[in-house]
Amino acid sequence: MEIQKLEKILVIDFGGQYNQLVARRVRENNVYCEIYSYRTSLREIKAMKPKGIILTGGPNSCYESGAASCDPELFHLGIPVLGLCYGAQLMSWVLGGKVERATEREYGKTDITLDVEDSPLMRGVPETTTVWMSHFDYISALPEGFSVVAHSKHCPVAVAENRENHLYAIQFHPEVLHTVEGARILKNFVQDICGCSGSWRMESFAKHAIEEIREKVGNGKALCALSGGVDSSVAAVLMSKAIGSQLTCVFVDHGLLRKNEAAEVDAVFGAGGAYQLNFVHVDARQRFYQRLKGVTEPEQKRKIIGEEFIRVFEEEAKKIGTVDFLVQGTIYPDVVESGLGGESAVIKSHHNVGGLPDFVDFKEIIEPLRPLFKDEVRRVGLELGIPKKLVFRQPFPGPGLGIRIIGEVTEEKVRIVQEADAIYREEIAKANLDSEINQYFAALTNMRSVGVMGDERTYDYAVCLRAVKTIDFMTAESAEIPWSVLQTVTSRIINEVRHVNRVLYDITSKPPGTIEFE
Ligand code: XMP
Repeated sequence: MEIQKLEKILVIDFGGQYNQLVARRVRENNVYCEIYSYRTSLREIKAMKPKGIILTGGPNSCYESGAASCDPELFHLGIPVLGLCYGAQLMSWVLGGKVERATEREYGKTDITLDVEDSPLMRGVPETTTVWMSHFDYISALPEGFSVVAHSKHCPVAVAENRENHLYAIQFHPEVLHTVEGARILKNFVQDICGCSGSWRMESFAKHAIEEIREKVGNGKALCALSGGVDSSVAAVLMSKAIGSQLTCVFVDHGLLRKNEAAEVDAVFGAGGAYQLNFVHVDARQRFYQRLKGVTEPEQKRKIIGEEFIRVFEEEAKKIGTVDFLVQGTIYPDVVESGLGGESAVIKSHHNVGGLPDFVDFKEIIEPLRPLFKDEVRRVGLELGIPKKLVFRQPFPGPGLGIRIIGEVTEEKVRIVQEADAIYREEIAKANLDSEINQYFAALTNMRSVGVMGDERTYDYAVCLRAVKTIDFMTAESAEIPWSVLQTVTSRIINEVRHVNRVLYDITSKPPGTIEFE
């Protein structure tokens, strides 16, 4: 997609926790949006020709030395700027207003009242509305040319504007759902104030991406590691639509997949599937089980699975010979979280963004989904006709069931956890809970205990069920599943899965727990 030519909004990130959410909310208006660190130079910002700029929240106090700041010229480019929370304070401070520490932090749902009726930013917003506040500092005096648009009980400047210069400041967080009119306010900014027409659509993304891939790849060959997860599946289908059998997809079954997963991937991408591509299914199950024999330490298990995966992939790649392009399913949050986009300090080691793996002989990496958020990837997936089941798959870790089996991994334990997990997923779907819970699965504890079944004593495993609600997967709450659903799942697992005599439900949040078990 010719990102350069798109109308776009830039989100300048000051380290706020909602930076990706701001970008998502902008994109809901069909406007393309990218996140950049506040360290990005004015020259680079200008070169991107944004239609508007949003300054995010952040943890600093703008009046302290060394606080994250921006070039004052940013406010004189004639490009509309919207400051949110820290961004609002910074805008005021840089332009000569006053920002001070309040005696008390204003946090949570707060009512604001409009002071003027005709602010373009607040068009359609009722006179009193509930917003989400989270700040210690506040704007105590506005710079010249600014006027108050709204206030709250403890905050004299909840919204301010300098209409003439297209500068707007909001003390609260419109991107958070608790701000009732948040979507409308952002829409007003993006459409009315910045004049964006809203041409960013997933149908056009797929069409343009296919054209671009064709142009880039020419007669070359591309190789894609297909895991069956959403990102690699959508990337593979886009590639196959673009270059057909010039693409080879290697799917490694490491024996640690969920029940029927390998067959499902085969059905979509294999010989009988809808796509024209070279599909290589490698059954490496025994290889992985052999390597994992006797290994109990979690990090060692992860390392072995990762290394063995590379080895298998490398062997298959060698059979193909030199390839020109290696396809990766990198998506936009991977880019941001790797520190390449915004200010996020979180660097996930399992994300390989733009890095060049040295185990395959290729010339260039191709990342067709790089600009997209997860839900946009899903929309492209549906657009391309990928089955819903694949498109809406929940996250599944690379090391698979290997990190959901505590202690040594054996074929028998894999079978147990696969069966239990399949029952659990089936019942959650039946109870219509699958869209409410962000990730749920069964894990196998290494605990065996005494039970009684029929008239017989048993000494069998305990399966543990996990279900979490989370936005960013960095923190998570255990989901409250109705007792009756848990009872049905438990009795089905005990009855249908051999060598399980207890089912436990994990109510630990993250932190202190993690989502996975190892
Ligand atoms: P944790 O267990 O760290 O998991 O709370 C957070 C999210 O990351 C997923 N996860 C992984 N994904 N490779 C992956 O691709 C991994 O090694 C890995 N470890 C955890 C996990 O499923 C959850 O969504």
